Amino acid sequence: MASLQSSCMVLTHNRICPLVKPSHHFPNARLTYRFHVSCSSNGGVDRRNMLLGLGGLYGAANLISDSKAYADPIQPPDIKSCGVADVHGDPLDVNCCPPNSDTIIDYELPSVTSLRVRPAAHKLNHGYLTKYEKAIQLMRELDKKDPSDPRGFTQQANVHCAYCNGAYDQVDYEGTDISIHYSWLFFPFHRWYLYFYERILGSLIGDPTFALPFWNWDNPRGMQLPAIFDNPHSPLYDINRNPSNRPPAIVDLALSGKTDDEQLVRSNLSTMYKEMLSSVDDTNGFMGQPYCAGMTPPGSASGGTVERGSHTSVHRWVGHPDNKYHEDLGNFYSAGRDPAFYSHHSNVDRMWTIWKHLKTKVPKDINKPDYLNASFLFYDENQKLVRVKVADALDNRKMGYDYEKVEMPWMYYRPPRRSARVRIQDISKGAENPEKVFPLSLNRIVRVLISKRSPGKVDEVLVLEDIHTDPTEFVKFDIYVNDEDDEPKDVDKAEYAGTFSQLPHRVHHSNRHKGSMKLSLKELYEDIDIHEDDTTVVVTLVPRANGHRVTIAGIKIVKSRSSA
Ligand code: C2O
Repeated sequence: MASLQSSCMVLTHNRICPLVKPSHHFPNARLTYRFHVSCSSNGGVDRRNMLLGLGGLYGAANLISDSKAYADPIQPPDIKSCGVADVHGDPLDVNCCPPNSDTIIDYELPSVTSLRVRPAAHKLNHGYLTKYEKAIQLMRELDKKDPSDPRGFTQQANVHCAYCNGAYDQVDYEGTDISIHYSWLFFPFHRWYLYFYERILGSLIGDPTFALPFWNWDNPRGMQLPAIFDNPHSPLYDINRNPSNRPPAIVDLALSGKTDDEQLVRSNLSTMYKEMLSSVDDTNGFMGQPYCAGMTPPGSASGGTVERGSHTSVHRWVGHPDNKYHEDLGNFYSAGRDPAFYSHHSNVDRMWTIWKHLKTKVPKDINKPDYLNASFLFYDENQKLVRVKVADALDNRKMGYDYEKVEMPWMYYRPPRRSARVRIQDISKGAENPEKVFPLSLNRIVRVLISKRSPGKVDEVLVLEDIHTDPTEFVKFDIYVNDEDDEPKDVDKAEYAGTFSQLPHRVHHSNRHKGSMKLSLKELYEDIDIHEDDTTVVVTLVPRANGHRVTIAGIKIVKSRSSA
């Protein structure tokens, strides 16, 4: 890995894309120019400028149209060389590699005749439930009939394990894992995963209209683990769940630790409002940061707001706290063994669909070839190994499914405005000076004074730079701006800016887990009625779990790019 590190070029303050494969040591100038230009995404190097910089090495027009040769998207793994997956360095109790196949088919989306409609799990009628239970039952039986049938329940769960826990190296980049979390691959990978899972279930019961129910955890009516998963006699049941969080417990999307139901509902709606609307400043802020061929898997800070927030919370909330790694849902390697996983992720997928249709200033599409051409392998309902690409997963309706429409009260859940304006002079008492605190370890609550770019209510973004975590631990901390409280607790308040949370995941010695995260402050400034002369704010970082496993290199406030 050393040679890879040394042949890297810093394209933005937080992103390092390898110039060449680790096995090459700049054999010639031409190769060194073939770096992942489009991977700079956030205002780094523009492909076109780069080409002009090459001084006529090639005809520019040629190169611009030849996106393939100059983009290096994540390639599908070579499943024949699938290796051992592990968690925290412990070998797993399963080998999660899929069966081999000599043929790989490029998947083409079948034409859509009628849409499969995914229903809300809390509203399922009896007939539907019977169908769903039957399908899962048959999937479980495949395990016994032929453990190598890729449609079997365990094989399906292993798909997630292999893609998340280091069973695959990237093709051509030995020693560099493929990992589909904490980047822009998060939504499309899981969409494809559910797509085939759903088609397999449908084909097992001979019903091509079958659609997976979604766990509607963003809606007060769906905020409990859906009852269909809580019947110990049902194939949808899983023993590895936190017994304290069985229905009627209300899910805690902010992992706030609150026990009062009404407070939990408020906190959940505020969480969704922040993740979907107010804290998202740019496309990657929701979708996750770029991840291309040759890059070590991104750290948790690189995930989008939903991935890092409500998504992680639900995993953690359902997983059994007495199990070593919070199995099943509480750890990526085991998550797919709980049937509730697929309903949880249907809702995550639904969030992507909803976000794409929100009328906000943030562009909803990523047009980089490194994103669109990234591809994965899955077994389809006919046990054929197929290659799919991100570009075909952008529109759920083209994939033949949609979601039942339900209320979305979080949409209007902007936190109440702060009643009295607080003067920065009063809040900043006792706040620390940035020169003194960074890099900081989050083993305590930290209040630090940060300079704004411009005074008052402007469109600015908070950047937490190079967050380094121990990936083997569950980690969470919350971020507040100008909170008077020394120990802020609630998230349904104007001063709450957002959160960072990560599930324990794969460790690989050569893989550093670092990343920066950004949170929009525009609405927050309005809601706290920041004074028009204020040139500084107090940022409070509140560790909620394993703060001592986190270091943060710096905090700064920048102008929003999307306001330009
Ligand atoms: Cu791939 Cu929610 O995990």
